Amino acid sequence: MLKPWINGTLVLIVLLAGGCAPDRGGDVVNVYSHRHYAVDQALFAAFTAHTGIRVNVVNASADELIQRLRLEGARSPADVLITVDAGRLHRARTSGLLQPVRSSTLERHLPPEFRDPQGYWFGLTYRARILAYSRERVDPADLSTYEALTDARWRGRLLVRSSENIYNQSLLASLIVHHGMEGARDWAKGVLHNMARPPRGNDRDQIRAIAAGEGDVALVNTYYIGIMLEDANPEERKAAERVGVFFPNQRDRGTHINISGAGVTRHAPNRDHAIRLLEFLSDLDSQRRLAGVNHEYPVNPRAERSARLASWGEFRPDTLDLSLLGENHRHAVMIFDAVGWK
Ligand code: FE2
Repeated sequence: MLKPWINGTLVLIVLLAGGCAPDRGGDVVNVYSHRHYAVDQALFAAFTAHTGIRVNVVNASADELIQRLRLEGARSPADVLITVDAGRLHRARTSGLLQPVRSSTLERHLPPEFRDPQGYWFGLTYRARILAYSRERVDPADLSTYEALTDARWRGRLLVRSSENIYNQSLLASLIVHHGMEGARDWAKGVLHNMARPPRGNDRDQIRAIAAGEGDVALVNTYYIGIMLEDANPEERKAAERVGVFFPNQRDRGTHINISGAGVTRHAPNRDHAIRLLEFLSDLDSQRRLAGVNHEYPVNPRAERSARLASWGEFRPDTLDLSLLGENHRHAVMIFDAVGWK
């Protein structure tokens, strides 16, 4: 199961009280990570096998990890912060929690759009937030843009998770950049109006709900469909087989993407190991595994796409500056609250 190891504030308190404290000495690198995918453990094990450097991981949400870094200050054992969203990396940077890194390897592996210009953070993968649709009840010719989801045609048919989720906050942040506050609010209101049920569950739950006939179109990240299609549980596979993948806004700005990425923490006790880990994760082998096992898009353009990614076809991504997502998260949350998208 790909469940987060750790979830919620209660666990953070346990962590702060000293539970599973990361190591400060020896050949180690301490990672604070919001990623919650099985492939990461395999990659860290490969890094250890390759370098002899152990990887200690603390899993929690980016907000919890950022708060922990703030509280720990210069005493923090953390070397690397990993998030599933460029916005939170940007926030960590502007909060003074990361340090700049120059690495010719990282600069060679990653094109400029997938790393901070000053080296405060580097992408690991990117992911598209797409429209998953019922193959039985939706003609993909009726799908076009995020904006068109507010049409009356979709009344009672949309499925989306809660607005507390970072993926939705970043999508709305991108709509704020493109349409302004008022346009983004109208969009959120329109989508809420067309929902098949109140927002609940995670991205996988929306795909299951399409299979169960509860709704017809869901906003989800691509890789969840890939993960479900290869799940050991046949029910999961069956559910995912009933949905199609549609990349919205191909005729204009492109589909919203976000990165999962990492930065070296300001007080990293094992700075060199941290940089080595980031270099390792951006190399061809790691990037192929992130794409092949977790169905994320590699940020290293030399890593070829897996058969699954290729089957979804090429798409035009929205090339919006990813830092702008973070700058608009606060406004996105305000809009979600104002329109009542729980
Ligand atoms: Fe995710």
